[in-house]
Amino acid sequence: MHEREIMLKLTAENVLDPLPLADAFPDPGHPIEIDMGCGKGRFLRARALRNPGINYLGIDRLLGRIRKIGKKAVREGLDNVRLLRMDAYYAATYLVPSASVSVYHVYFPDPWPKARHQRHRLFNEAFMDALARTLVPGGAVHLATDHLPYFDAIAQIVRDDARFVPAPVPFPAEDERTDFELLFYERKPIGRLSFRLRRAGPAVAGTTVAAREDPEAHDRHGPRTCRAPG
Ligand SMILES: C[S@@+](CC[C@H](N)C(=O)[O-])C[C@H]1O[C@@H](n2cnc3c(N)ncnc32)[C@H](O)[C@@H]1O
Repeated sequence: MHEREIMLKLTAENVLDPLPLADAFPDPGHPIEIDMGCGKGRFLRARALRNPGINYLGIDRLLGRIRKIGKKAVREGLDNVRLLRMDAYYAATYLVPSASVSVYHVYFPDPWPKARHQRHRLFNEAFMDALARTLVPGGAVHLATDHLPYFDAIAQIVRDDARFVPAPVPFPAEDERTDFELLFYERKPIGRLSFRLRRAGPAVAGTTVAAREDPEAHDRHGPRTCRAPG
């Protein structure tokens, strides 16, 4: 595989069309997981190596980061990785085909802490619409952030959205910690939250499983969680 093949390219002709996402991978029958804002790609590459039966797409708006991940993934022979340099909201809203994604990973999304900048945050009702459109029924979203006000805001958005129900919160293996998580792990609380798209049936208000990792609460059995307030 060459670096050119691993990068999904958009042209003036196809920039408004759904990506032929499954066909971008050697085995189009495999489930697709997307890492939104994949950063330097530590998580993406570790997961792809561990799960050859899953196709992984990393999306980030920084071209330099995407290129570096591409070089490493080619060197490591990760045929099940593809990369897209794109705004995550645009990709989920316009480019990702409907009912095509098994899992979204959204780790340490930019929190935009100043009130006047919060409109730039990824999570809002419109992004939830894009998740609902593109996830397969039962498909999951896993989120982690060290910015607890943003965590609480996201938890509220999810709780208010009857299309989604709580899902088990995964804790990453050591090699699957993202680059940002390595900065914060055991030094700062990390909010984790997982939810999935309802399979079918009547919509009822759901509560969200939300776990914060408590750095004080580690023992030799690994991290414990506490429920987030609200
Ligand atoms: C705080 S870093 C976290 C990176 C990685 N997920 C991790 O945990 O190490 C946020 C990443 O999201 C990317 N990013 C921020 N906003 C984005 C957007 N709207 N679309 C795509 N990528 C975005 C940034 O370029 C950066 O690489």
